[in-house]
Amino acid sequence: MEIIHFSAECYPVAKVGGLGDVVGALPKYQNKLGHVAKVVMPAYHNKFLQQNEFEVVYDGWVRLGSNNYQARIFREKANKLGFDLFLVHISGLLDREKVYGYDDDTERFLAFQIAALDWIAQWEHRPDVIHCHDHHTGLIPFMVGNCYQYRHLSHIPTVLTIHNAQYQGQFGWDKLYYLPAYELRNSSKLDWGNCINPLAAAIKCAWRVTTVSPSYLEEISYQANGLESLLAQERGKSAGILNGIDNEVWDPAKDPMLSKTFSVRTVDSGKKANKEALCTVFNLDKEKPLYTFIGRLVGEKGADLLPDIFYNALQQSNREINILVLGSGDPHVEDRLNELKHHFKGSYNAYIGYNEVLSHQIYAGADFLLMPSRVEPCGLNQMYALRYGTIPIVRRIGGLKDTVTDIGDGGFGICHDQTSVWDVGHAIGRAYELFLDQKKVKDIRKYIMSLDHSWDLAAQQYIDLYQM
Ligand code: ADP
Ligand code: GLC
Repeated sequence: MEIIHFSAECYPVAKVGGLGDVVGALPKYQNKLGHVAKVVMPAYHNKFLQQNEFEVVYDGWVRLGSNNYQARIFREKANKLGFDLFLVHISGLLDREKVYGYDDDTERFLAFQIAALDWIAQWEHRPDVIHCHDHHTGLIPFMVGNCYQYRHLSHIPTVLTIHNAQYQGQFGWDKLYYLPAYELRNSSKLDWGNCINPLAAAIKCAWRVTTVSPSYLEEISYQANGLESLLAQERGKSAGILNGIDNEVWDPAKDPMLSKTFSVRTVDSGKKANKEALCTVFNLDKEKPLYTFIGRLVGEKGADLLPDIFYNALQQSNREINILVLGSGDPHVEDRLNELKHHFKGSYNAYIGYNEVLSHQIYAGADFLLMPSRVEPCGLNQMYALRYGTIPIVRRIGGLKDTVTDIGDGGFGICHDQTSVWDVGHAIGRAYELFLDQKKVKDIRKYIMSLDHSWDLAAQQYIDLYQM
């Protein structure tokens, strides 16, 4: 089958979070299964664009109201990522450093979607599936099915994967005229809450809808930022497929970013060396258990509670622990996490910012990884932690629930029910008790490293879905 993935992110070209990891891996694994998966994404002004070779495959214009933008699509020549990568360059809109966060994001992603479809509309053949990821590509199923200029694409099945229903990309009806012409009586397909809602439009128009874990599919029936009833209505065409991880990028035995590589056999000495290196850089005590958090500092991740959780945990005089944070997001949370450094020198540190290399080093060197998420459609961090022998401490929600079982239930992680200071504090205490039993910790590490969360299984599940 020929599958075209449309996405705003794709690792290593541009990554803000897990969406980038998924789109950088799933197509590669689909190709390994003998299919032809390709990725189409915006050309941001970043290193990947500057450091690789491209050929031009399309030149055109995108009209948004009275503005005309030049669009050019590049193909990465060397096929470095294990799939064909196409970058949509739109002068004045997409050629910026950041992926998101601009006032004209509506215009940017709309122009991206239109340029990409204009190009595909010129192909001599039709792909078998169009696979859209999140709201940035959510107008594609509507446009393919309704806009006159794409009429000949309308029989191509479209799939929407919801990575996070909190973000929907809504904009006002005053921008309706940006869309290519379609029969106006179909406008209701775009509408949700008196706005044009790209995620809602995709849920209505896509042939199939998936979420990134089975539990998240259940949870969005009561927690989907206003889309609950729509999702319930479209439940018949929906499925939850648990994300995998890219075992080639995330392989502690080969990872060039680590201080020392290690396998299941050498996990004890390997983790020790990586922990020591981290503790030296961040002025922590290598003898104490190292708890970490990696992620976006936003409410969904429970980040607002982290300063209080850490303060309480570090204050307990009978416990000797280290905490290391890597994250960026809410400036208030960033400030509070930075402040804690002054109170707990030698046992707490934080790197506020984004650092891919450091994230690998932390997964490798930590004893425990905290994920007290309020919402977690899948979560990849816990799977990276498992692969690197780090014991996850997670809230039982979404994909965390589907991937981590508590040690009390015969499992290998520490689970708690609420995103609250008390519940997470209690889980930290349980982890501390576990750490005192080093034999058990070592057994768990070996076990979790051998769990298989690679994309092999999920890539096939998507193929089965396309062929339904
Ligand atoms: P989300 O996509 O909701 O942010 P995921 O768990 O799916 O959460 O994926 C997060 C990804 O982003 C992981 O690869 C994680 O290692 C990475 N990540 C998050 N914050 C940072 C950071 N500050 N520095 C480096 N990597 C980060
Ligand atoms: C989203 C979700 C996260 C998921 C990721 C990849 O960013 O918040 O839980 O792992 O997408 O699907």
